[in-house]
Amino acid sequence: MTDVENMKDLMNGAVPDAAAPVEHTPDRAAGYVLRSARFLCAEALEKIISPGDRVIDATMGNGHDTLKLCELVGNSGHVDAFDVQEQAVENTRALLTENGVLSRATLHLLGHQHMAEVVTAPVRAAVFNLGWLPGSDKSVTTRWDTTLPALQAALSLLEKLGVCIVCVYPGHAAGEEELKNIRSFLSALKPREFNVLEQAFINANAGSPVCFQIQKQ
Ligand SMILES: C[S@@+](CC[C@H](N)C(=O)[O-])C[C@H]1O[C@@H](n2cnc3c(N)ncnc32)[C@H](O)[C@@H]1O
Repeated sequence: MTDVENMKDLMNGAVPDAAAPVEHTPDRAAGYVLRSARFLCAEALEKIISPGDRVIDATMGNGHDTLKLCELVGNSGHVDAFDVQEQAVENTRALLTENGVLSRATLHLLGHQHMAEVVTAPVRAAVFNLGWLPGSDKSVTTRWDTTLPALQAALSLLEKLGVCIVCVYPGHAAGEEELKNIRSFLSALKPREFNVLEQAFINANAGSPVCFQIQKQ
């Protein structure tokens, strides 16, 4: 498959693993105006986060998002990252160590629904990349009953103009339920308090990622 065909697949959401992390690859899509929802979210983080910021990765997984956040906050900032699986914490620790940024993060083996118990200062951004640990047996996936309190906590921790990014993968039952409920929860937020943007390719495969950007007013 050529690079262009690959890119078209990515743009249509036809990713090989429906729970793959946000892409951080260099720009392979020069010339394409419409970009994958996940790419746009990654791009939004780059615009929002500055050195010295405090941010949250609500779903550590293999650490790709945590690494990106560590790079963006620099030496003077901090990332609090959460996951319920030891394997995710170990994989993330290894990735951050390899890239020399481990000191910029606290890796919590803790459900994100408990984030407010350990993060008390306001944060510039919070990232949710929902689903299961890529490369795992898919038995542990995020679920709406814990995603809801986590989202509520993240929104209340955001500083003014801070942004929360949520990527949902509706290609499996729990993801489908999450998408329906997240859309309904976020639609009900008061526009005086939050602006909410939903991004997806509407002619893509049914299981393609849907990303939400929520900015606190
Ligand atoms: C799609 S992966 C995240 C990918 C990750 N951001 C990356 O860059 O590799 C979703 C992760 O959410 C984790 N997870 C499931 N339930 C959770 C919970 N209640 N709190 C925090 N993480 C959870 C899973 O263990 C899995 O590692």
